[in-house]
Amino acid sequence: MFKWFRKATPVQALGTDLHSHLLPGLDDGVQSFEEAAEVILKLKQLGFSKLITTPHIMSDIYRNAPADILEKCEALKTYLQEKNIDIEISAAAEYYLDESLAARVAAKETLLTFGSQYLLFELNFMVEPMNLNNIIFALITSGYKPVLAHPERYMFYQQHPDKLEDLIARGVLLQLNLASLTGYYSKATADLARLMIEERWVHFAGSDCHNLVHTQVLEEAIKSRPFRKLLSLPLLNYSL
Ligand SMILES: [Fe+2]
Repeated sequence: MFKWFRKATPVQALGTDLHSHLLPGLDDGVQSFEEAAEVILKLKQLGFSKLITTPHIMSDIYRNAPADILEKCEALKTYLQEKNIDIEISAAAEYYLDESLAARVAAKETLLTFGSQYLLFELNFMVEPMNLNNIIFALITSGYKPVLAHPERYMFYQQHPDKLEDLIARGVLLQLNLASLTGYYSKATADLARLMIEERWVHFAGSDCHNLVHTQVLEEAIKSRPFRKLLSLPLLNYSL
């Protein structure tokens, strides 16, 4: 009966977002500085105080060199200052796990990380890579802390959620997408997202925001019941 007292949980509680695509023209995220500013303003209104944006690095499609990512981030900062949009922003990357990532690690190339050596990576959505455990081991022994982007979206984890426990045991940290809580991607994604929260298999929460439509989904996600439960977990967002 006191339903009308229930308010949306403010996303301020998260503070930092560590997964987004807000550097114009580098990937399938925003395509102009104007669009970036519009999306960033909305993220700020939703309560984020710091953004770590993570363009895709994918061998064939998005060949973003770390230097180009950092340069574009500086250009964006300048643009935001000119527009009087005050928010802390920095850049890392979302690495697609493939042979080229394995080669970069083997060659000891410096990879883009955030916080204390956290490295965000993603997988093919349909097929679990054969070399997954080898690359995880190589990353960890090279001093990185691998963070798997949106585990709830991969079909093979939806079918076998227990595999996520194995990943955690191998030293992988898991990053849930906030939009997954709404059913925006699929019901199977939402189901696994909720299970991950129940089982406390979430280390980071991220927006994975690509555009203005995603900010609307985020607005819906932060009003949801699972979001409030998510905030009760010891998320590493707070440490960034
Ligand atoms: Fe992403």
